[in-house]
Amino acid sequence: MILVTGATGNIGRDLVAMLAAGDTPIRAFSLEPGTAPFPAGVDAVYGDLDSDAFVRALEGVRSVFLHHGAVTADGTLNLESRLARARDAGVEHVVLLSGGPGGGSDLDNAVERDQILSERAVRASGLRWTILRASGFASNVFRWLPQLRAGDALSVPFAGVPVAAIDPYDIAAVAALALTTGDHDGATYRLTGPEPILPAEQAAQIAEALGRDLTLRGQPDDEARAELLAFLPSQYVDALFTFFVDGTYNDARVLPTVEDLTGRPPRAFADWLAAHAEELR
Ligand SMILES: NC(=O)c1ccc[n+]([C@@H]2O[C@H](COP(=O)([O-])OP(=O)(O)OC[C@H]3O[C@@H](n4cnc5c(N)ncnc54)[C@H](OP(=O)(O)O)[C@@H]3O)[C@@H](O)[C@H]2O)c1
Repeated sequence: MILVTGATGNIGRDLVAMLAAGDTPIRAFSLEPGTAPFPAGVDAVYGDLDSDAFVRALEGVRSVFLHHGAVTADGTLNLESRLARARDAGVEHVVLLSGGPGGGSDLDNAVERDQILSERAVRASGLRWTILRASGFASNVFRWLPQLRAGDALSVPFAGVPVAAIDPYDIAAVAALALTTGDHDGATYRLTGPEPILPAEQAAQIAEALGRDLTLRGQPDDEARAELLAFLPSQYVDALFTFFVDGTYNDARVLPTVEDLTGRPPRAFADWLAAHAEELR
């Protein structure tokens, strides 16, 4: 049995669909049912990762897909107990979704710290492991949905920062390989999209796909900070400014890893958009 957590998330949805096409039984773990049902034959368990529902979901599981954790208010990494529960349940292998900052060393940067500590915890877990360090997701443009609903004017933070945006489908494809074969044990893969892309270029492609006259304006830093603070704790907002304004993190780097592992080039933003335009409409 393979357990996919975050099963209705951007990667989880694709991963469950890919794995459901194979022979291994699949269980999907999710906070609550999503808008679309899981494919036929997929066992679903609902609940919080830090509740007993997760322990129930681990029953009979050999491999588990987990997102990186976070350091909580009491100073502990929530992923530690999730890994311990997996080990106690007899799980053998974990595939961890991390990000490019997981390869850094700045423990004062909250995003980097969560990813570095999560990777350390997985390596020390006693389980076999595979770590996926992804670049920024193509699906991050879903964050523009409220503005797209309100009109044609987009205002975005860090508009001058190019990102080698990756289609979550490609992260799922590599995760599926790692979960179904033993060939990727002990590997840490840095996964990127095929080209760096700017928010304005993404907006132009969305405008074309939706037949709309969109404009995009880069937010001044103080406006961006105030807006981000409305839904992110301040240490994470500081981390994003350190990355993208001070320039400590380059997410524009393109690597051949997805093609090396899957045998086909990574999907471009245009491919992601073709698959998701209806959700942006
Ligand atoms: N966005 C990026 O550019 C980027 C880049 C690198 C790494 N990452 C990492 O990738 C992960 C996914 O990012 P995303 O932006 O695409 O988010 P997402 O998949 O839209 O959302 C994450 C999913 O995690 C599940 N989840 C969260 N908290 C949970 C809890 N307490 N209990 C059970 N399930 C929980 C939810 O899945 P269910 O609804 O199915 O429960 C949710 O859909 C995050 O860890 C993020 O840090 C993101």
